Amino acid sequence: MADVLVRLGTADDIPAFVAIGHAVVPPTYGPIDAAYAQKMLDEWWTPEVFATSLERNAHLVAEHDGQVVALANFGRLARSYRDFPHVTGDREVMWKLYVHPDHQGLGIGRRLLGEVEALVEGDELWLEVVDGNEQAFAFYRSHGFEEVERTPDRDPWPDDVWMRKQLVGR
Ligand SMILES: CC(C)(COP(=O)(O)OP(=O)(O)OC[C@H]1O[C@@H](n2cnc3c(N)ncnc32)[C@H](O)[C@@H]1OP(=O)(O)O)[C@@H](O)C(=O)NCCC(=O)NCCS
Repeated sequence: MADVLVRLGTADDIPAFVAIGHAVVPPTYGPIDAAYAQKMLDEWWTPEVFATSLERNAHLVAEHDGQVVALANFGRLARSYRDFPHVTGDREVMWKLYVHPDHQGLGIGRRLLGEVEALVEGDELWLEVVDGNEQAFAFYRSHGFEEVERTPDRDPWPDDVWMRKQLVGR
């Protein structure tokens, strides 16, 4: 972990973001639903989406030996380009936390999450996890997140589960 650098992401990182998506999304979501994994790549891991996201959200990257090996991004729900008809009010959301498979289990996810928690406004942090992503559920539960609600009406796709963490000392 000593040689992992965390810094703000910029438009120069977009090719690396897309590459991380193609490395991590299939093994993460393929076992749950291969078609859904492909849909996620097509909808959320494109250069165009990251260009828009960089205008609306904060991005953090973790670098190892000069290579981007993980990213996290976060922002207010009200600034999202997605619709959330079931959500009332605004919330601070970590939209992505993805570590390249070759670098998982080394403390990078925990470190990025800690940086996000330190940077967000307000006293709560929210995120969505795809139903069936047990590794992520275990990670988030062990870091103080609790399941609050499910996003309904997503057939034929797996549910999203919203989790929330109360940030201490806020
Ligand atoms: C979930 C994820 C972000 C965690 O990041 P990570 O860098 O692998 O996790 P860390 O090395 O920081 O581990 C943090 C803790 O989880 C545990 N952990 C990590 N990977 C684990 C695994 N495969 N099995 C069991 N425990 C694991 C570690 O033991 C550690 O525990 P500790 O904090 O008590 O020491 C990362 O594995 C990942 O990118 N997964 C695929 C994409 C994904 O699902 N992202 C979340 C989308 S909502």
